[in-house]
Amino acid sequence: MKNPSSPSFVQKIEFYFCMYEKYHVCYGGDEEERKANYTDMVNKYYDLVTSFYEFGWGESFHFAPRFKEESLRESIKRHEHFLALQLGLKPGQKVLDVGCGIGGPLREIARFSSTTITGLNNNEYQISRGKELNRITGVDRTCDFVKGDFMKMPFPDNVFDAVYAIEATCHAPDAYGCYSEIYRVLKPGQCFAAYEWCMTDSFDPLNQEHQKIKAEIEIGDGLPDIRLTGQCIDALKKAGFEVMWSKDLAVGSPLPWYLPLDKSHFSLSSFRLTAVGRFFTKNMVKALEYVGLAPKGSQRVQDFLEKAAEGLVEGGRKEIFTPLFFFVARKPHSGSQ
Ligand SMILES: C[S@@+](CC[C@H](N)C(=O)[O-])C[C@H]1O[C@@H](n2cnc3c(N)ncnc32)[C@H](O)[C@@H]1O
Repeated sequence: MKNPSSPSFVQKIEFYFCMYEKYHVCYGGDEEERKANYTDMVNKYYDLVTSFYEFGWGESFHFAPRFKEESLRESIKRHEHFLALQLGLKPGQKVLDVGCGIGGPLREIARFSSTTITGLNNNEYQISRGKELNRITGVDRTCDFVKGDFMKMPFPDNVFDAVYAIEATCHAPDAYGCYSEIYRVLKPGQCFAAYEWCMTDSFDPLNQEHQKIKAEIEIGDGLPDIRLTGQCIDALKKAGFEVMWSKDLAVGSPLPWYLPLDKSHFSLSSFRLTAVGRFFTKNMVKALEYVGLAPKGSQRVQDFLEKAAEGLVEGGRKEIFTPLFFFVARKPHSGSQ
């Protein structure tokens, strides 16, 4: 585990937990407060979990549809290549990655398509880790990171040849506001593609079990309010986009996207995520925390992420939730908004 050994993490973790939990008092909390304080809430969430994500999942923090005999890593890369191909990325193009994490997809897509990618993120720690990884891989010559909020982007109008977002804009308190910013910075005639976290049409807002699963995912993953797929499409159109096509890629995936989180599944290639791997990690974290090699609170973060995983698996099993809602949308040439 990387950054949990820094002293600031030791001091901050208890404080962050108190503050983060404040936003989600007992399954759901106050939705309006969460939306109003979303930047703060999401930042606190990522300060807590980034190192754990990187340890368990790798440099790309997203799910993927998966074929049989395909490793988790391979499926994640294929999902990134798919996005690049759908956007029709060409060498030399200037691309924006909205909510880029520590830049796993950015490095892969930049190398795959020979494009220049800017990663936008409002989390300081993720940006510093991303810069370090860009330097290590040599991608720092063509790609960079910008600290900023995707609800008010620090870029002029019409500057990017393509924009993508991978499992990030679900953190926006308002999809229309976020997509409007993407529309503004994209050149006319160019495309925006994204993987969105959404509730599916099978979600019944009056069903208490469905509500509980939705709230578990929200609290476990730093989300203000998970939208329906149709609400994302409406928001895109309202922002001025032409929706070229959209599909929930969870439907028809040979292996379910939540398999790596499913405790009943065992895999050597993603051992750290299996029930046995998580048991080992939990005890290792406990022991390291006890002897002072891992900071106090590490085990608490681990338990918290365990709960988040349970909500995701249940949402996936019941097909009421998907992290793989994909769309490609085009900004028309000027005058046609
Ligand atoms: C689940 S992670 C996905 C990261 C990355 N796309 C990937 O697939 O590895 C969501 C990302 O969105 C970023 N994010 C959340 N809210 C944001 C905001 N308001 N402005 C910019 N970035 C934001 C988080 O800091 C985090 O990096």
